[in-house]
Amino acid sequence: MADGPAVLGYYTLSAHSIERSALPEDLVKKLKLPKYPLIPATLMGRLAVDLKYQGQRIGEILLMDGLERSYVHSSQVASFAVVVDAKESAVEFYRRYGFLRLPPGLRMFIPMETMKKLMGSPPL
Ligand SMILES: CC(C)(COP(=O)(O)OP(=O)(O)OC[C@H]1O[C@@H](n2cnc3c(N)ncnc32)[C@H](O)[C@@H]1OP(=O)(O)O)[C@@H](O)C(=O)NCCC(=O)NCCS
Repeated sequence: MADGPAVLGYYTLSAHSIERSALPEDLVKKLKLPKYPLIPATLMGRLAVDLKYQGQRIGEILLMDGLERSYVHSSQVASFAVVVDAKESAVEFYRRYGFLRLPPGLRMFIPMETMKKLMGSPPL
């Protein structure tokens, strides 16, 4: 995201996968995930806002933009969730938007099923 030559913030999206065995069994059942050892996901990386512009909802806009893109693309390239490797200081930021912890580390995820409810319709 830029304002003229100034970069306000950014994030990356890439195809990823999570070991099925790393996911809580109740979630695997609830989401009816396939029985493959690796489940496709979308990794959101490097989300950051320039220090000068933090606290102006740019992080929220970037996060929502990335979630929407991921959700739309999941209709064409399978992905069960958006995953982030959060810094300790950003865990609460992600949690407030519905991300869940994936123990034991700081990995967090938000299922596409949750986004379907938030967006109100399936991806086109
Ligand atoms: C985390 C980060 C992306 C947030 O961006 P931002 O533009 O400053 O945040 P926003 O203004 O969009 O904040 C939206 C809401 O989240 C809250 N929030 C922001 N950063 C937070 C944090 N680290 N922990 C908890 N809540 C946070 C804000 O208080 C605001 O809450 P409100 O709705 O009650 O007003 C930014 O602080 C940043 O770049 N941090 C350094 C890099 C980083 O930690 N990136 C995360 C990668 S793991």
